[in-house]
Amino acid sequence: MNELEIKVPATPATCYKIKIGTNTLGSIWPELDSDFPKLNKFIITDENLVSAGHLEKLIRERNVPAFVISPAGEISKNINTVISIIEAMEKAYLGRDTLVVALGGGTVGDMAGFAAAVFKRGVPVVQIPTTTVAQADSSVGGKTGVDSSISKNAFGAFWFPERVYIDVATLTTLDERQYRAGLVETIKHAIIADSEYFDFMEENLDSILDRNTDVLEKIAYQNCKIKGNVVEEDPLEKNKRRILNYGHTVGHAVESASGFKLLHGEAVSIGIIAAGMIEQRLGISEPDKFQRIRNILEKLQVPVISPDNLDENVLLDLIKRDKKAVNKWPKFVLTEKIGNVYTKNGQYAVEVEPEIVESVLIELKKS
Ligand SMILES: NC(=O)c1ccc[n+]([C@@H]2O[C@H](COP(=O)([O-])OP(=O)(O)OC[C@H]3O[C@@H](n4cnc5c(N)ncnc54)[C@H](O)[C@@H]3O)[C@@H](O)[C@H]2O)c1
Ligand SMILES: [Zn+2]
Repeated sequence: MNELEIKVPATPATCYKIKIGTNTLGSIWPELDSDFPKLNKFIITDENLVSAGHLEKLIRERNVPAFVISPAGEISKNINTVISIIEAMEKAYLGRDTLVVALGGGTVGDMAGFAAAVFKRGVPVVQIPTTTVAQADSSVGGKTGVDSSISKNAFGAFWFPERVYIDVATLTTLDERQYRAGLVETIKHAIIADSEYFDFMEENLDSILDRNTDVLEKIAYQNCKIKGNVVEEDPLEKNKRRILNYGHTVGHAVESASGFKLLHGEAVSIGIIAAGMIEQRLGISEPDKFQRIRNILEKLQVPVISPDNLDENVLLDLIKRDKKAVNKWPKFVLTEKIGNVYTKNGQYAVEVEPEIVESVLIELKKS
């Protein structure tokens, strides 16, 4: 037998800028035209961004081909929409010299990023996130994908953006429930990485809820810094990146068991409380941490107990099916103090006995 070894030289280092400001939508296009003069732009957005006037602010009178996703939201985040997007790009005679511009929340960013990753084997994408989820989380880490009829993000690719533009003024038109639920990811960032940031969130929660743009710029910056540092250290989620899943193991199970009636951030809020209860049972948690976290989530008016109708056995079954489970049981990310993730043998996700998790799921309904 003959043997050959092919060494592919490292792909160019991934490096991208995140630009944060207020009322900046109108200045993005001239900048894209000057920085990417040879690329043909194609916009992917959804119907709510059009009706809120954000698409108009972005492109003004320019004639740019666009795909407007309708209906907006998770219901369209599937492979059929990606096929329609790609066919629209082909009909517009676009080739590999295309720059995809994603304007919208996490669903638009995930679909547009994935379409960019697979269109003609990959074209660059610029992300313009417009929700609290997308500005804190989904636009930054390079994960893209769409759901199958069986599970979330079943199709996916790592496809890092060429650039991210965050205009915090776009958040002023976001629905209140979506706005608050998305802030749970911000609180998660503070819990896993930065106690001063948590203090800041406690002190400024009222201004954040008033959508004060100065404060929103600060939190957008801090979120991107925290997520960006973790992604830089572990882009493909071998170990450290797992910390971003804090609250998500139970959170994802609660989200699915609710039939997606709970928003992702609302389910993660319950998952963060569950993680706190596990930490208390294992005796690894600083005394007043749990109460501080619970207080801020309650002030945010997101759920902190699981709905009565969620059966612990259903939740346990879903936890066993977690995509990161090995031998039908996932590891958990836990914290010791605010700002510090608990590690064991250098691992950021650790084993927790199923009995402990089960007792927490029961307590979650009563607390
Ligand atoms: N790729 C990642 O790393 C990552 C991380 C977190 C979440 N996600 C994904 O993100 C998705 C959730 O994102 P989302 O919460 O932004 O959902 P979304 O994109 O569905 O947006 C929520 C709703 O708000 C509307 N909207 C968006 N911006 C608006 C604005 N400025 N004004 C008025 N309405 C606006 C949308 O049309 C939609 O109806 C999920 O699919 C999740 O899996 C991905
Ligand atoms: Zn999340």
